[in-house]
Amino acid sequence: MSNESLANLMTETRRFAPPAEVAAAANVTAADYEAAAEDRLGYWAEQARRLTWEREPTETLDWSNPPFAKWFADGRLNVAYNCVDRHVEAGHGDRVAIHFEGEPGDSRAITYAELQREVSQAAHALTELGVATGDRVAIYMPMIPEAVIAMLACARIGAPHSVVFGAFSADALATRIEDADARVVITSDGGYRRGAPSALKPAVDEALTRPGAARVRNVLVVRRTGQDIPWTEGRDLWWHETVGRQPEEHTPEAFDAEHPLFILYTSGTTGKPKGILHTTGGYLTQVAYTHHAVFDLKPETDVYWCTADIGWVTGHSYIVYGPLANGATEVLYEGTPNTPHQGRWWEIVEKYGVTLLYTAPTAIRTCMKWGDEIPAGFNLSSLRVLGSVGEPINPEAWVWYREHIGGGRTPVVDTWWQTETGAMMISPLPGVTLAKPGSAQTPLPGISATVVDDDGNEVANGSGGYLTLTEPWPSMLRTIWGDDQRFLDTYWSRFEGRYFAGDGAKKDADGDIWLLGRVDDVMLVSGHNISTTEVESALVSHPRIAEAAVVGATDPQTTQAICAFVILRGGAPQEEGLVEELRAHVAKELGPIAKPKRVLAVDELPKTRSGKIMRRLLRDIAEDRELGDVTTLTDPAVMDLIQSKLPSAPSDD
Ligand code: WT7
Repeated sequence: MSNESLANLMTETRRFAPPAEVAAAANVTAADYEAAAEDRLGYWAEQARRLTWEREPTETLDWSNPPFAKWFADGRLNVAYNCVDRHVEAGHGDRVAIHFEGEPGDSRAITYAELQREVSQAAHALTELGVATGDRVAIYMPMIPEAVIAMLACARIGAPHSVVFGAFSADALATRIEDADARVVITSDGGYRRGAPSALKPAVDEALTRPGAARVRNVLVVRRTGQDIPWTEGRDLWWHETVGRQPEEHTPEAFDAEHPLFILYTSGTTGKPKGILHTTGGYLTQVAYTHHAVFDLKPETDVYWCTADIGWVTGHSYIVYGPLANGATEVLYEGTPNTPHQGRWWEIVEKYGVTLLYTAPTAIRTCMKWGDEIPAGFNLSSLRVLGSVGEPINPEAWVWYREHIGGGRTPVVDTWWQTETGAMMISPLPGVTLAKPGSAQTPLPGISATVVDDDGNEVANGSGGYLTLTEPWPSMLRTIWGDDQRFLDTYWSRFEGRYFAGDGAKKDADGDIWLLGRVDDVMLVSGHNISTTEVESALVSHPRIAEAAVVGATDPQTTQAICAFVILRGGAPQEEGLVEELRAHVAKELGPIAKPKRVLAVDELPKTRSGKIMRRLLRDIAEDRELGDVTTLTDPAVMDLIQSKLPSAPSDD
């Protein structure tokens, strides 16, 4: 794509009309926006009927004690029954629920009937281990079917789970076990990662030596790799022995709609992790509804794949609860996208005929970097809707995704939401909204969001500010586990009566919403607010740039100076004059004020496991400080690699 067409893309609003056949058959239509605008609670009450309730709710929302919401409070249901048993009862027992693809190439198809038996057995096993309704269970697992089964088994007996990402350290695991006071941990010997078995169990053993985690009674261990692991007799139990001998039938008990379903700790790029609490009826209603609406899911024919890890909310809502509540067939992949080769994902799409794909912009940009010829080597014609989540998707990556993965046919849905919101909130709808590369666009039917200024007044079209949610929604977090005050302070105190998401956003001339990243990531340069996202987006619109991360470094003249870290495309060496060219390019795209003071070419960027750039570490580098905590990085060695590339003298002007 030429520079000029890129520039057009960045500055103009380019629209992509949904293909006629998608529009004609879409699950949700323009009428849904109208219905929800007219009667928001009525619309949600109707969506709640997508679930099977043991006792149908007569109440929709109790907002008498804001911000502590109760949704469908007098309803009772069982989440696992909704995600598994009812599909078997409806005659879909032979439908594949999960196509598991192990990294070494082993695979296993699990039907809904099999899933029902295994979840039932696991539920019996937990009960046998003394786990009662309301007790917390920690899950520390690789991406294998037992991770999903363990979550559903907890839900089945009303024991809230706390899933801890399988690559977090023993310390991170210990703090989370302690905060939730979990008494049972479910783990595995290890999993396959980058072509080799990597161990998990030793981290559990280490975590359990910390005083706060000493109350754990049992560790249930799935055998995945068969590697040698340390074993504590009496405490540790093999999954295949303990679960394997249980009865295959289990009667699910219904719980109140507000019964806690899970705690999930936010990734914590700053401060102590917060235990986000989600409950049962409202959460399941919104994840099921949004998965149905935004992916336009047709469970009879679609094959859905979400590439996230179950350790993140995306995995909870859009691998486990949403798709399974809808009776979908989905792919679960254990490994990395480039093991054993850079086409592994596309090979999986081809193998299973994946129709709906949900991934993150960082993964899309990585694939762009590997080269267009890689996806071109596979048949991706089954794909029908592509989703994006996790950070703003730059228009360049959006267009690449649609053209090189979606063959130019597929809608791309850029879904904005958070661990705290539990489910998608702002997104285009395939077949309904016209698409704008880079914009999350419109709140979904039933969701109220707006962009406000410092005083909480709604900004005019064409202006930027803070993203707020103005009405409660079914899958909203109910509190921070054990810390109601922090819940109030963090989300409800900045703007009276509204939820403040922490993100900056702007409204374009049509009133569509563009996300600008966390407001903590806004730079102040000579009195101007400049978002890191916008400068990054401008940089990656240059043909030589694959990825960019921008931070504001303290500067005596300008308050902050823009410092850009860039990865060059194709890894080619940096040509003479490139830095100047990039600075000029940003100035042309965004104006001279946004011109980076420094541009440093690096090989990697520091990212959390969920793919978020850890700007605070880049700021440490830009400001010549000692590095802060690097333990949540995917690969802490990246920081050495970046530092070894320095210094490149700051240029003046
Ligand atoms: C933050 C939430 C939602 C699951 C994964 C992340 C950013 C998320 C988008 C998007 C722009 C996005 C926001 C948000 N974010 N999706 N489509 N466009 N930004 O969950 O770890 O709780 O992070 O991710 O900054 O606040 P999370």
